[in-house]
Amino acid sequence: MRVLVAGASGFVGSALCPALVAAGYQVRAMTRHPDRYRGAGTAVAGDVCDPPSLAAAIEGCDVAYYLVHSLGSRDFQARDAEAARSFADVGARAGLRRIVYLGGLGEDGDDLSTHLRSRREVEGLLASTGIPVTTLRAGIIVGHGGISWEMTRQLVEHLPAMVTPRWVRTRTQPIALPDVVRYLAGVLDLSDSGSRSFDIGGPEILEYVEMLRRVAWIEGRRLLVVPVPLLTPRLSSRWLSLVTNVDTATGRSLIDSMANEVIVREDSIRRLVPFQPIAYDQAVLLALGERAKERRARAGRNAAPARSQQSRVPAAGGGRTSATGHR
Ligand SMILES: NC(=O)c1ccc[n+]([C@@H]2O[C@H](COP(=O)([O-])OP(=O)(O)OC[C@H]3O[C@@H](n4cnc5c(N)ncnc54)[C@H](OP(=O)(O)O)[C@@H]3O)[C@@H](O)[C@H]2O)c1
Repeated sequence: MRVLVAGASGFVGSALCPALVAAGYQVRAMTRHPDRYRGAGTAVAGDVCDPPSLAAAIEGCDVAYYLVHSLGSRDFQARDAEAARSFADVGARAGLRRIVYLGGLGEDGDDLSTHLRSRREVEGLLASTGIPVTTLRAGIIVGHGGISWEMTRQLVEHLPAMVTPRWVRTRTQPIALPDVVRYLAGVLDLSDSGSRSFDIGGPEILEYVEMLRRVAWIEGRRLLVVPVPLLTPRLSSRWLSLVTNVDTATGRSLIDSMANEVIVREDSIRRLVPFQPIAYDQAVLLALGERAKERRARAGRNAAPARSQQSRVPAAGGGRTSATGHR
């Protein structure tokens, strides 16, 4: 089966592509910058805002994963809607048999934030030309590089004490990145031919404040959290962009969404794609471990030129003598 992954270079896509390749699928990794792509699969150029480039990328594929969003733009709702419409149009003309989309948790009746409403709208638009769409709806995904996880980690690491809005008490059901990949890959084996949505989450329901406290505990840090009802979303997002590397526009969308409870309401996916889900603390340890690995690799790369410089010294100069007089 030939599978297109739109958003292959992103946080989820870069974990999904190697899993699909390992499972034996032919993977086309779609990105706007194929020259920079170093991940699994074959890089292919494609921009969801440019239908001709999309047509070339989708041509000959059986299934497509849709892992694209433009949350950092101020007009993300309109852009993401237009992009989903184009993808559904081009996909239908190319004879795509299925789209698998990763969206957000939260019920339509929950007075959803603009971000979560937009994710829900994309779900409908992708299905608007008749291609069956399998949607997985997730809350916070815990994994190195994920925007919501990075926000959590950086808040804990940068602030020993926090004055936070009421959202710290909202319930959420974070899921580990490897479990999201298991579900995304697992739904390809389902025989169901129609469109269907599944909620996915980890094994624990936690308030945001509990997530922050658990990360602090794992990292051996002290954390004081003081919820203040008067902190507006606008002020919170400014404050967030000061203490984390999340930009103000993205931070605002994420903070607005924190008013919405994001928990699994129907768990039928557990029986269709069965495995033991990863607990929150373990997911945090995995994410921190990936971060440490990446930093070590980067330090190794930076040290390599210096080392090779050093190793050339003995060859050219006959070697250095140690304090004990031995080479
Ligand atoms: N991260 C989370 O915690 C989380 C939680 C729940 C749901 N989700 C959902 O999971 C999906 C993937 O999220 P993510 O965190 O992996 O996102 P991400 O890391 O921000 O990656 C976004 C991807 O979108 C691609 N993209 C953006 N604009 C594009 C365009 N015009 N044309 C083609 N590609 C474009 C980017 O590719 P290039 O820049 O290479 O083109 C990038 O690979 C989203 O639908 C999101 O709502 C994420």
